[in-house]
Parts: sequence; C-alpha cells; structure tokens
Amino acid sequence: MELKEDQPQNGSGPAADVPPLRRIVVESETVPIRVGDYAGPPDPNYGREPWQVGAGSEGEPVWVEERMRTEDLSIAYGDKRAVKDVTIEVNSGEVLALIGPSGCGKTTLLRSLNRLVELTPAAKRTGRIILDDQSVDDFDVTQLRSRVGMLFQQPNPFPMSIFDNVAYGLRERGSKKPRKKILEPIVVDALERAGLWDEVSSNLSHPALALSGGQQQRLCIARSLAVSPEVLLLDEPCSALDPISTSIIEDTIVELKSEVAIVIVTHNLQQAARIADRVAFMYLGDMVEQGAAGQVFGAPREERTQDYVGGGFG
Ligand SMILES: Nc1ncnc2c1ncn2[C@@H]1O[C@H](COP(=O)(O)OP(=O)(O)O)[C@@H](O)[C@H]1O
Ligand SMILES: [Mg+2]
Repeated sequence: MELKEDQPQNGSGPAADVPPLRRIVVESETVPIRVGDYAGPPDPNYGREPWQVGAGSEGEPVWVEERMRTEDLSIAYGDKRAVKDVTIEVNSGEVLALIGPSGCGKTTLLRSLNRLVELTPAAKRTGRIILDDQSVDDFDVTQLRSRVGMLFQQPNPFPMSIFDNVAYGLRERGSKKPRKKILEPIVVDALERAGLWDEVSSNLSHPALALSGGQQQRLCIARSLAVSPEVLLLDEPCSALDPISTSIIEDTIVELKSEVAIVIVTHNLQQAARIADRVAFMYLGDMVEQGAAGQVFGAPREERTQDYVGGGFG
C-alpha cells in the first residue's frame, strides 16, 4: 500500500499535494461506525440508535457511548467569533477528529471542553458543555481537567523523573501523599497503556526531559491516563514528531479509544483518515459537517467539505 506522508495543508502548494481522498479512505481501512448493529431499543431523544458499535484496532467491536457534548456552543475573543453554535458529541469507543484550515476554531473548541479557554480573559462563551449529563461549569476545575485530559502540540513533561511525571496527578489529588508502593502499579499501567513501558521500564528514575520527543509525548499521555480520564483531548499531538513516533502514537490512540473518548485536532487529513471513526470539519468557526470518517472523506455532503478534503483550500 502506498500512503504519502504528511503533506502541508497550508501554503502555496497546489491541490495535487493532497492525494485524492477516496484513495485515502480505501487504503487506510478506516472503519465507519456501523449504526444499528445493536438490536436494543431506539432512543427517541436522539432519533437514532443510542448504542452504536465501532471497531477497535483489531476490528473487534467497541462500545460507543456518549461522554461529552456541546450544545450551541459559541466562543468569541472580544468581538471576534471563533466558534459558532457548535453542537457535537464526544463518545467513548471512538476517535473524533476535528479537521479544518488553520484559524477555524479547532483549538478553541477543544480547549473549551475542559475549560482551558477561560484562562484567556477576552474569551466569552455561550452555550452548554456537558460531561456525563452535568454542565462542566458545575465541576471543580481541577477535577474536570483530570476527567478531561489534554495534550498539546509540544510535549510538556515536567522537569522530573519519568515516574514522578506519571505519578504527578495522583500525588496532587489528595491531601495525604500516597506512598510510592501504592503508586507504582498505577504508574506502570499508565505507561503500558501509553505504549511507553517497554522503552522505559529499566529506569523510571531517568529524567523525563532526556527522552525523545515521541517518548515525551507518550509520557504525557501516560501522565493523563494515570488519573483515569474519561476524555482525552489531543491538539495536533504529532505535529512536532517524526513519522515513526507519529505512527506509534496513532496506534496508541486507537488502542485507547475503547476506554477513553478521544478528540484529536489534526491538520493532517491522512492521519484523520487512518485513526478517526468520526470526523468533524470546521471552517471559520462553523461546524460545517460531521459524520463517520468514511462518509466525510468519501462522500462529503457540503461543498466546503468537498473543497477541503479534496485539497481545494486550507
Ligand atoms: N487567545 C486568543 N485571543 C484572540 N484571538 C484568538 C485567541 N486564540 C485564538 N484566536 C483566534 O480565534 C480563531 C480560532 O483560532 P484557533 O482556535 O486557534 O483555530 P485553529 O486551532 O483551528 O487554528 C483565530 O482567528 C484566532 O486568531
Ligand atoms: Mg489550533
């Protein structure tokens, strides 16, 4: 199979820089969510089957269930509207990719989900953000951010050992610091789930900052996983990484989706096609189109989506 590596979506490159999307979908073997495999009762509130079955990394069925949703969410910086009336669900059991050209509001939408946006004084939000049927505003913000973890473009491990990085959130949690013996199995488990254990098991006291970029990013995933998040937000997590690290992180993301709802912002359409079950295309703050990855890439409904996934702009 021939899959071109990351092509820049921005800049002056001709449309031919981006391979035709039909080819990507076929070759990446993206498995669209099959609605209706579960023969349970339909949910009248949503007008569709409440339970869906997706597919895991081995093609095994994965339970899909709502964790978060936004309702008519708008965010403005001063009088500039960055996110406009976005309603979207975030489900465990699937990877949701937010795609769209630079500046269209992907990061703003992502950062709103764990209330990082409110650290920007000019940002104003309207609309609702729900985590497990409760408004995110009702949560203690530290608790919210451990349930809804976030990773950024640049890995940001703390200047301490591998072990202490992963244990950090657990130690911060209670008033009494847990003993190392109690933390150890949780740290090992988080490193295993983040796909880093085999590379670091011989020396957990090694400084985190001495790891490679790809290892640091997986360490940050492990640090998030250690506090048992329900949702993981990834903002272009591979854009600073080499192709091999990128591929390891992509595998890790697909492995994790059965336990954690994953939302990934990526400028890389091939990456979205490889790992996403559902894709949401944003343009100038609008949620133009969202749907199963195979549909958005293979048969986009909106012209703006067609133009973007066909490489027409971005
Ligand atoms: N802190 C900020 N202050 C003012 N404007 C911002 C801020 N962050 C983002 N914006 C603006 O909001 C819009 C959306 O930005 P962003 O969410 O970063 O988009 P994306 O992640 O899709 O590139 C852009 O026009 C950007 O300039
Ligand atoms: Mg961004």
